[in-house]
Amino acid sequence: MSESTTIRWEQDGDGIVTLVLDDPNQSANTMNAAFADSLDAVLDRLEAEIEQVRGIIVTSAKKTFFAGGDLRDLIRATPGDAERVYAGSLRIKRRLRRLETLGRPVVAAINGAALGGGYEIALACHHRVALDTPGTKIGLPEVTLGLLPGGGGVVRTVRLLGITDALLKVLLQGRQYSADRALEAGLIHEVAPDRDAMLAAARAFIEAHPEAKQPWDMPGYKIPGGTPKNPAFAANLPAFPANLAKQLAGAPYPAPRDILAAAVEGSQVDIDNAAVIEARYFTELACGPVSKNMIQAFFFDMQAVNSGASRPKDVPFRQVTKVAVLGAGMMGAGIAYSCARAGIDVVLKDVSPEAAERGKAYSAGLLDKALAKGRTTPEKRDALLARITPTADPADLAGCDAVIEAVFEDVALKHKVFQEIQDVVAPDALLCSNTSTLPITLLAEGVRRQGDFIGLHFFSPVDRMPLVEIIRGERTGDEALARAFDLVRQIRKTPIVVNDSRGFFTSRVIGHFINEGVAMVGEGLAPASIEQAAAQAGYPAKVLSLLDELTLTLPRKIRRETRAAVEAAGGTWQEHPADQVIDRMVDEFGRPGRSGGAGFYDYQDGRRTGLWPGLAEHFAKPGAQIPFRDMQERMLFAESLDTVRLLEEGVLASVADANIGSLLGIGFPGWTGGVLQYINGYEGGVAGFTARARELAAAYGERFNPPALLVEKAERGERFTD
Ligand code: NAI
Repeated sequence: MSESTTIRWEQDGDGIVTLVLDDPNQSANTMNAAFADSLDAVLDRLEAEIEQVRGIIVTSAKKTFFAGGDLRDLIRATPGDAERVYAGSLRIKRRLRRLETLGRPVVAAINGAALGGGYEIALACHHRVALDTPGTKIGLPEVTLGLLPGGGGVVRTVRLLGITDALLKVLLQGRQYSADRALEAGLIHEVAPDRDAMLAAARAFIEAHPEAKQPWDMPGYKIPGGTPKNPAFAANLPAFPANLAKQLAGAPYPAPRDILAAAVEGSQVDIDNAAVIEARYFTELACGPVSKNMIQAFFFDMQAVNSGASRPKDVPFRQVTKVAVLGAGMMGAGIAYSCARAGIDVVLKDVSPEAAERGKAYSAGLLDKALAKGRTTPEKRDALLARITPTADPADLAGCDAVIEAVFEDVALKHKVFQEIQDVVAPDALLCSNTSTLPITLLAEGVRRQGDFIGLHFFSPVDRMPLVEIIRGERTGDEALARAFDLVRQIRKTPIVVNDSRGFFTSRVIGHFINEGVAMVGEGLAPASIEQAAAQAGYPAKVLSLLDELTLTLPRKIRRETRAAVEAAGGTWQEHPADQVIDRMVDEFGRPGRSGGAGFYDYQDGRRTGLWPGLAEHFAKPGAQIPFRDMQERMLFAESLDTVRLLEEGVLASVADANIGSLLGIGFPGWTGGVLQYINGYEGGVAGFTARARELAAAYGERFNPPALLVEKAERGERFTD
């Protein structure tokens, strides 16, 4: 083998060949053409020299074992490429089949992440040993990119685990397992503490199994747990599509449906025919529109965002060692937990020692739950809690190199708490506010070092929400922005960067979704249909139920403040048709949302019991009806159009930030690839979207008129990209 190939052949005197995956042109191995050629050459040589080969170990010289499919290639696949994609999928499956039927034991020594294509290679090995490192992640996450595993992943997991476990543990959720968890789930056979032990285990397997075969190549093999040919299993089968449909709530995600079909259909035929079925479904997904949107967002945009495309380049990276969290309420407590989890010392300050202790107790509660589920150890729990110091005394904040403020949403109070601590913390400490609505530039006026002041908008519940919106005020310096970015990465969350403006990006855009849903109530449309439209568009929360959670008084407060600001700046305030509905709900009917015991829904003991029947009485208009598609698109368009305006206004500077922020922060449907990718991927592209916006404007109001930037892009045939 020449050194330029992607798979290196290493052989010692004892007849064991080690195939080292080591793409010379990339930092990670992927299923590109060079890999395919290399695998061909290696298989030819193995077959030719099989008499001298006693066994094969597959491992990698990279940090990861193997990264998976070549997404740069896949994202370009259109229906016109179907034949090529189909042939490619079959080719890789045939090669892996050759490997598993050589008549010699093949062991995957998984030295790091083996996701997607990487795990598919491992599945074609007779034995799988994984290295126990934090970087070892095992699974088939294709579904999260709108794809299905096209390298035999469906075929083999069904045969390894049975249809039910293959679907639920591996294929439908796309979960990524640590080495231990993968062992528990039956995805691998052994875990090794270090590289030597891993290779020794591989050799031991080869010695003990000179003629290893896959379970499915053994005489009398049956798929564990049965197949649709078995009447008992077949009787349970209809529950699968029904459960899936319920989970997806009608949202247009084709991958789960195709994965289910490929698994079930493939279980009824032999492995070669199952591979053909898998290739067919893979091709359908890979050449369709949704996988393009999802690959763009969840792979490329995510990579751009997390790698710091929006971070000032020339500021050196700095770690935070001790953070002050001001306010130990819901947000402060969650922020303290997330920081402590990342190994940062936290001083958690509230008005009284008791209030601060309560904030710390929140972390203890989360950790106790994790402990009960076996997700942490008593030692790790204690170590994390020991990093949080609750206090009411500002003097305890000495030496903190970052401050995150999360006290009540009140400008004077926020100014006061910063004044109290600015001379106590480190002289160059980063100063952050978690405000959700107040202008950062205004809050910065309360501190002496305005250049070091910045917004860090977390989402609730902080421990589970992966996004943080960084808001740059008018006087925020580059250094503060870079440090805020690094802090968010340090606590392993995803940062997007926006400029200061009312509602920033996320709150402002989600407001348009809510307003559109509520406006439809005012038009007399059936509330149940509005909720259904949101669910079927793919929103994780139905629009009226979401507003009930947030409370109807919140948009009123925001409206009051925004209106005052617009008018103070000499602008004219534009009413939204939703305003009247919200005012009537609160003032006339006394229904402010769930916390008030009544909203668009009725509640009993805090639990939703059903839509309020009074909606029909007070708002329904006989005969009011619009196409269901319009209901869905009014919500989707309202958000996307406002995002374009935010780009025009310079609040947003990055397309990737907009897409990721909308997906991780405010529940914009995942199949779209985000607010701006939705425009790119719309039928007819940006021009098609623009034409449709005009139609919606003619039917439902000027707010749907395309902004100039959109029209310009449509005319130039451009897409939204960075
Ligand atoms: P909260 O009411 O749960 O907590 C506020 C805490 O601040 C209380 O524990 C209070 O005792 C404490 N506090 C008041 N004065 C203080 C002082 N002088 N020194 C130290 N602590 C003091 O409020 P929540 O929901 O945690 O919100 C906090 C901030 O986060 C607000 O600015 C809010 O707008 C923002 N935010 C809230 C989100 C949410 O979903 N609730 C989401 C994102 C941001």
